[in-house]
Amino acid sequence: MNNPDQPVIPEHTLDRDCTTLSRHVLQQFPSFSAEAQDISAIMNRIALAAKLISRRLSRAGLMAGTLGFTGETNVQGESVKKMDVYANEVFISVFKQSGLVCRLASEEMEKPYYIPENCPIGRYTLLYDPIDGSSNVDINLNVGSIFSLRQQEGNDLNAEARDLLQDGHKQIGAGYVLYGPSTVLVYSLGQGVHSFILDPSLGEFILAEENITLPAHGPVYSVNEGNYWQWSESIREYIRYVHRHEGYTARYSGALVGDFHRILLQGGVFLYPGTVKKPEGKLRLLYESAPLAFLVEQAKGRASTGFQDLLDIVPDKLHARSPLIIGSTEDVQLVESFIQDWTRRVSEQTAVTSS
Ligand code: AHG
Ligand code: MN
Ligand code: MN
Repeated sequence: MNNPDQPVIPEHTLDRDCTTLSRHVLQQFPSFSAEAQDISAIMNRIALAAKLISRRLSRAGLMAGTLGFTGETNVQGESVKKMDVYANEVFISVFKQSGLVCRLASEEMEKPYYIPENCPIGRYTLLYDPIDGSSNVDINLNVGSIFSLRQQEGNDLNAEARDLLQDGHKQIGAGYVLYGPSTVLVYSLGQGVHSFILDPSLGEFILAEENITLPAHGPVYSVNEGNYWQWSESIREYIRYVHRHEGYTARYSGALVGDFHRILLQGGVFLYPGTVKKPEGKLRLLYESAPLAFLVEQAKGRASTGFQDLLDIVPDKLHARSPLIIGSTEDVQLVESFIQDWTRRVSEQTAVTSS
């Protein structure tokens, strides 16, 4: 019943347009507490970083000094692109003098970056991959940013940051930004997964979908099959299985964020397994795999290494890597069954030969 003293508001459209990211974050908390305000402010800063990166990407081909490599190599041994450096600095810049985040840790920095002026009050650490899918930057294909928020524990203000070497359940929140035809921000604070689209005319991220859930199975398998020659037989067996059964389709963009986004919305599985020579694979645990695992579990999917839940892994160093199998529960289970059956067969054979 409308209150005759109140103006009549066209409910659906206007209310939706006003559901901005910061308002939505505040709604995740039972009260307007200091924590709620801090986390809402942190998400706002991440959104500002996303807007700055999105703006630069949209003009990258027109601006000098934006595309291509810097000539440097990062701590991962990978060639650094100019956009990697820019996006990394954007995150530092938006959090400086914010009073929100004491420490930043990124794929592009060997050691965590401390913002001492924030530390007395900003008891959080933000871990991030500033540009995910860097090989797509120069050809105008989708890239992303990934982030993970953790509580700052102890007073470890030296560069070791041992308190970060904990499992993925310790994340307070996580998310990513996908720079595609539109810029999409997806996040979770442990109460469902929600997506927002940047409305350039407003300069705001507006709610697109709340409580996203994955189907238990989807047709997509997403993997770099060029690595077939380097895989263990278990992964090869899985790939041969999907090749020989109806109902599967391959999709792989070279940017984890884009491939994961498709699976989050439509189901299926993304995998970046280890190789025989590098069993830990390529993806970094703390700022690539663990945040996406946090999201997928919130969306009723699963993330695994093949042997254990990805969120249970405790890294031994900041830039530790881990195999990743992520997506719909049934599809992740199928990959795990190939890995575990093969491992069991090998250990049985080894036992027979050595007896
Ligand atoms: P980054 O650009 O942050 O180094 O990450 C690249 C990652 C990930 O986005 C993608 O899924 C994967 O590397 C692609 O690797 P391959 O080229 O080996 O398939
Ligand atoms: Mn990445
Ligand atoms: Mn990156």
